[in-house]
Order: sequence, then C-alpha cells, then structure tokens
Amino acid sequence: MCGIFGCVLRDGNAAPIIHSSLKRLEYRGYDSVGIATLSNKKIYIKKEQGKIDEVHQLLNLDNMPGNIGIGHTRWATHGAPLQINSHPHTDCKGDIAIVHNGIIENFLELKTELQNLGHTFVSKTDTEIMAHLIEETQKQNPHLNFEQAVLASLKRIEGSYAFAILSTNQPDKIICARNESPLVIGLNDNAIFCASDIPAFLSLTNKAVLINNGELVTLSTQGYEIKKINDASPITRNPITIEWTPEMAVKQGYPHFMIKEIHEQPQVLCNTLRIQDHYLDLLSTFLDRANEVFLVACGTSYHACLAASYMFSKLAFLPTYPVYASEFLEQHGKSVNIDSTILAVSQSGETADTIAAVACAQQRAATVLSLTNTIGSTLTRISRVYIGTQAGPEIGVAATKTFTSQLSVLAQIALKLSKKRGKISQDEIDSLEEKLQQLPIVVETIVTNQEEKIKTLAKKYSKTKLFFYLGRGISTATAFEGRLKLMEIAYIPSIAFPAGESKHGPISLIEDGLPVVFVCPKDDTHKTVIGNIMEMKARGAHILAIIEEGDEAIKSLADDYIEVPKGIPSVLTPIPYVVPLQLLAYYTAVEKGYNPDMPRNLAKSVTVR
Ligand code: G6P
Repeated sequence: MCGIFGCVLRDGNAAPIIHSSLKRLEYRGYDSVGIATLSNKKIYIKKEQGKIDEVHQLLNLDNMPGNIGIGHTRWATHGAPLQINSHPHTDCKGDIAIVHNGIIENFLELKTELQNLGHTFVSKTDTEIMAHLIEETQKQNPHLNFEQAVLASLKRIEGSYAFAILSTNQPDKIICARNESPLVIGLNDNAIFCASDIPAFLSLTNKAVLINNGELVTLSTQGYEIKKINDASPITRNPITIEWTPEMAVKQGYPHFMIKEIHEQPQVLCNTLRIQDHYLDLLSTFLDRANEVFLVACGTSYHACLAASYMFSKLAFLPTYPVYASEFLEQHGKSVNIDSTILAVSQSGETADTIAAVACAQQRAATVLSLTNTIGSTLTRISRVYIGTQAGPEIGVAATKTFTSQLSVLAQIALKLSKKRGKISQDEIDSLEEKLQQLPIVVETIVTNQEEKIKTLAKKYSKTKLFFYLGRGISTATAFEGRLKLMEIAYIPSIAFPAGESKHGPISLIEDGLPVVFVCPKDDTHKTVIGNIMEMKARGAHILAIIEEGDEAIKSLADDYIEVPKGIPSVLTPIPYVVPLQLLAYYTAVEKGYNPDMPRNLAKSVTVR
C-alpha cells in the first residue's frame, strides 16, 4: 500500500501542494517519498528514503518548478526502501515519470523483454518497467501520442495498479489509470487532482470523481476525461460532493482504523496472492534443507506461527517448532546451531524479543528467514531471505489484516514445500491453491453477511466477566488469536485452550451462563469438538460457535452461532474463521465504550525486552 498524488494547476507551483497532500497520505506508507514536476518540457525529480518531513528537510520538496506534478509516499513491496527504489521512476531518457500503487505481476518477463531491447533499469521495483514500456511503445509506434501509448502499454500489464504519469510528450497532462488499487479525482476552480484517497485533497476541495477498475483518466487544465482501458471508449461521470470531515476521510468513513483494517482484508489477501513465485520458492527451498525449523514470533504473529506449524506438518510433512520469541534464548539458545533454521514472523520487523532471538540464532550460524510487513526493518536486514506480507501499514494496535496476510503467505510457503517434497497429491495441491484464491471472496462474504449479527452478539455478551475460547487442531491457533483480540481491546479476561486440554483444569471455571466460543470448522476434529461442546454445555456454559454454513449438528447444540462459507480446507480455516472473532472483539470494545485503536498499556511495536 502506497499513496499517489498528482495535480495540474491553472497557475502557481504544484510542488508545495503535492508535498502537503502526500503528508495527508502518509498513513498509506512512509518509508520513502518523491515528487516529479514538469516545467518547460523538462521533468524535475526529488526523491529519497525516509519520512516526508525528514526528506523535506534534506531536499526542500517545495522548491521545484512547474504547475504540474506527481508524488508518491511508499510502503516498499518490491525492492528495499532506498533512494534508488523511491518513486517517481523514469524511462531511459527521463522524459516520462511515473508513480504507482499496486503490484505488477508480470514485471520480470517484461523487464527481461525490455532489457533485451536495450533499456537500462536503475531500480529493483516493478513500477519502473511501466516507464520503459511506454517509452518502447512510443518508439515502435511514433504516431501514438502519450495517452495512446499509455493505453497500449496498460494492455500488457498484469496485476494491480493506480498510476499517475507525466511525459514531456504532452507536458500539460497527467495520465492516470486504475486496476484494483484505489484512485480518485478531485477538482476546484484552480486545479485538478488525482490521488489514492480522498483525504489527500479534502482540504482543497470536496468535489470528487471516483474512478473504477479498467479506467484511464487524463487530467489537464481543461478538466478530466475518462476512458475505458480495453477499447478507449469515453465515459461520462460527474463529480460527487464529499461530506466527510478530514478525520473521517483518513479512516474512509469508518469510526476506527481497526474496523477499516478488518474490512481491508479481502484486498490485502488478493495482494498476498500476487507475491512473486520465486520468493516463495526460495524460502521453501531453505525450509526443505533444514534439519530443524523454529517458528519464532510474539503476540498475534506467534499465533500465525502456531497455525503454520499445522500447515507445514499436514502439507509438507515437515515438523516445525513454534516458539515465543521471548522464550527462545532460554529454551533453545544453547542448542540452536548451523543445521537449524529460524523462520521469524513479525508485522513490524522490529519487535525486540524477535530480533534478539534471531540475533542469537545467527551468532550460532543458524539460517534466518523471515516474514514481515515492513520491508527495510531490522528483521529484513538480518535475514538471509525475507518475504513482505503485503498488508500495507496497520494503524490499529490490535493486529487484524497483518495476521490474515501472514497466514496466507505461510500457507503459500507450505504449499510450495509440499510440491517440492511430493507428500500430497497434485490434485490436492491444485484444489488447495484454488481454495486459497477464493479466500478474499470468502472473507468479504463473512464481513458482509455476519457483521450485523456479530454487533448484536457483542451487545448480548458485553457485560460478561470471563470468556473461554476453544478449538482443536489448527483451530487452536484461531481460538488463541480470538481470545487475544477480545482481551487486548475489550479488557475482558479470557482463557483459550486446545479444546481437548480444557478438561485438564480450565473446565473447573465453567458455571451457568459462562460464554464459551468454539471454533469448529467441519474438519477431522469436528466429531471430537462436538463431544467437547457437550461437556461444556453439561456444566451450564453458553455456547457461541463459529461454524461452517449449514452445520446443523452444531447449530442444534449452540446458543448462538456465526456461519462461515462452506468448503474451506482445514489448513486454511484460520484465515476466514478468525474474522468473526476480530469483529466480535471490535464491537464488544465499542459497546463498552473503549477506543479499540489505542488499547491501554499496549504498543503497536514493542522495542524493549
Ligand atoms: C505487540 C502488538 C501486537 C503484535 C506483537 C508482535 O504486542 O501490540 O499486535 O502482534 O507486538 O509484533 P510484531 O510486529 O513482531 O508482529
């Protein structure tokens, strides 16, 4: 997730406006920033890694000529957050400048093709290929103007994008295009803007035009023209008036970041499915060679590791050891060695305990692999191989979208490893891959169909003094994560156990009306879980079950239930089944009058041990 912005002014300098608008988009990314302006048929660029204020101090982003320009605030996905990878990117001659939010899936093929035609690339980004592709298209078809060349180039791009592009060929225009990544146009009497999000220009205008997938927009002092990318046919669309306050706009109208981030999960899951195959392949190759594998993390990321240990075991027959990072040194510090592999998972890539565990393992010559949402973080710098989880910045302290994105990436790695090891049939792999592709829609369905019901349940249970969360098999991880969410933001003491283990102690706490949340997908654990539900019911517990749609057996036992679409393979269930639990925690916190974005005593990134 990055932020893009562009503007064409009737008069005045574009750069200060771009700078202040990027500042308002900083919640979309903040590891590098850059601006390109166009004046007297020449493109000027300033860009650098670092937060906007730091880069402005260094380069003075306001001091650039021209009434037209584009800008970008980055959250790295391809290529580390370095000056060279910052946007805008240019073609070989510096006549085209481009900013991009999204992921170009076929960039490696296109890059090779363009390199063979003599193009020189300076960055590691997927974005840069678009500048060279337009350059090449114009070279091969000199009769095309800038807009036509962009249209032709877009047809070769696969993946998600919101582009804003400048060219000396038509120096009074910005061309934008959208597929899956957000893009809006704003306009007032003196200017026209394009941006990833409305907050970027809301202080300048409340008139906006929403751009849809598959559309190209040309901005000039004359206004805007929208066309379909596939056939260049024109589209008429009038501006709408935005009623949001700037604060509401940053949260896209949601009352809190947490609920916005829960709703973002379908899109984030789509992004995780675009991770380049060769990264997944590389990481799984290291895992394949390992003698012992430790999955090391804290908090929510630890729950992703716990779920992953079931995935690796069931799909690739690889035993792995999930370990709390804070315990790693004491538990394994002496035995970890050159034959050990550590897969560290961390949203921030900065959690002190995770870094300490990794540093210890590294000192003892173990191989360090990682998964993080923050490219450029300490973890990425000390890992042999890392993969970015593609969730974009998460602002709510309670992790939601970063958890499901971690799970999606871990599932993809487990599948890759499974293929390498030939442990399960090709048919089963194909079917799992297909189901993985469907998860964004499954999660969307859960949010759309169950949110109102969960709100009602949150009201019903909000006065409860204690909650239980139980699951078996991989659903143990889901239950642990559901419990953590409720506890951290609604401050309700909660207990989570593998359902089978609950008989060995926790069951003594059960009394009349105590709510027990059961995570019960229809997998191999289903029958046994029914037994566990009966045990709890017999002692007066109130059963709230997360079930597969149409699971009549559990419906008849539960006091309340939330349904998840059918047919999710067991190893993938934590992704959709955690979503109702995130919503339950969120609405319980709201019901109790707490701010879920800023739970007391907690921090987003814990950098002390
Ligand atoms: C803090 C956050 C949690 C997070 C944990 C691990 O406790 O509040 O949401 O799960 O740190 O953070 P990491 O960035 O390493 O995933």
